[in-house]
Amino acid sequence: MHPKVAICGAAGQLGVELSRVFAAAGYQTLRLTRTEFDITNATAVEHQLARFEPELVINTAAYNMVDVAEQEPLAAYQVNGLAVRNLALACRQLDAQLVHFSTDYVFDGTKGSPYVETDAVRPLGAYAVSKLAGELYAQAYLDKVLIIRTSGVFGPGGLLTARGNFIELMLRLAAGGQTIRVVEDHIASPTYAPALAERTLALVQAGMSGIYHAGGGQAISWHDYARLIFDAAGLQPELRATDEREYRTAARRPRFSALSNAKLNQVVAPMPPLKEAIAQYLAARQPHTAKTTAT
Ligand SMILES: NC(=O)c1ccc[n+]([C@@H]2O[C@H](COP(=O)([O-])OP(=O)(O)OC[C@H]3O[C@@H](n4cnc5c(N)ncnc54)[C@H](OP(=O)(O)O)[C@@H]3O)[C@@H](O)[C@H]2O)c1
Repeated sequence: MHPKVAICGAAGQLGVELSRVFAAAGYQTLRLTRTEFDITNATAVEHQLARFEPELVINTAAYNMVDVAEQEPLAAYQVNGLAVRNLALACRQLDAQLVHFSTDYVFDGTKGSPYVETDAVRPLGAYAVSKLAGELYAQAYLDKVLIIRTSGVFGPGGLLTARGNFIELMLRLAAGGQTIRVVEDHIASPTYAPALAERTLALVQAGMSGIYHAGGGQAISWHDYARLIFDAAGLQPELRATDEREYRTAARRPRFSALSNAKLNQVVAPMPPLKEAIAQYLAARQPHTAKTTAT
């Protein structure tokens, strides 16, 4: 019998890759997108999961609009916090394992070196608080939950979503021809969604639970990341460094939120180098963009 996995948020960047990777590994995969499966609807969550009876539920659905969340903190909390409670309760009922994705933004960014799983959390805004609440709800109801914190996700599935990702934003701005200003005083660890999906499968197959950090493995400023993207794409827009003081956003963000993959690397293969991941992303997006232009 093939094990059953339900993937929530299956149309998102990471959801697309998880669906592909778990199906290829022989899992019977139920892809749940927002239209047919809204995780904030507790009754629907309970009934739909009970009908499928998965051994594993992976939650990649999230409210990811960090700045907008400051205007609508309740909306963020419903998806990132309370809805995780819905999933955790349903998993408890079915004796299924929950794999839940969280964020580097649970940290305040003052540590100055990559965060490990045991570091103290201190979220700086509504989005970050809501994601931390999701972690706590998952742990409150389940003994064996796997929480994977990641950072700056980019994957070809981003082309299909309204939000896109940082690479798509940079390519759009470059096409616009204007000077591009990107912060150099904020550091993260951009993460390639297909690589994260593969490592998620490996963690599940190794029977892991608890909190794991799975960032891209390289701490880099958003400015230097933009430079890598333009170099890989063969573009030469005017790129200027800016900083938090000049470039104000509605939400406060941690200045240094790169994640240490040391614990992850004890179980799975290291993430591919960022340069390589960007090149893979650009190659993977070509068929999509060619199709868009042709229609
Ligand atoms: N993206 C990042 O840079 C980043 C950084 C750190 C951590 N993470 C975490 O990594 C995980 C995956 O992120 P991602 O980049 O794949 O996000 P994404 O591309 O924005 O995908 C999230 C998906 O969740 C869906 N969704 C939103 N509300 C929902 C609801 N109430 N019920 C069901 N589905 C809902 C969205 O649908 P709609 O498109 O219709 O809204 C979207 O398909 C998330 O937990 C996220 O918080 C992401």
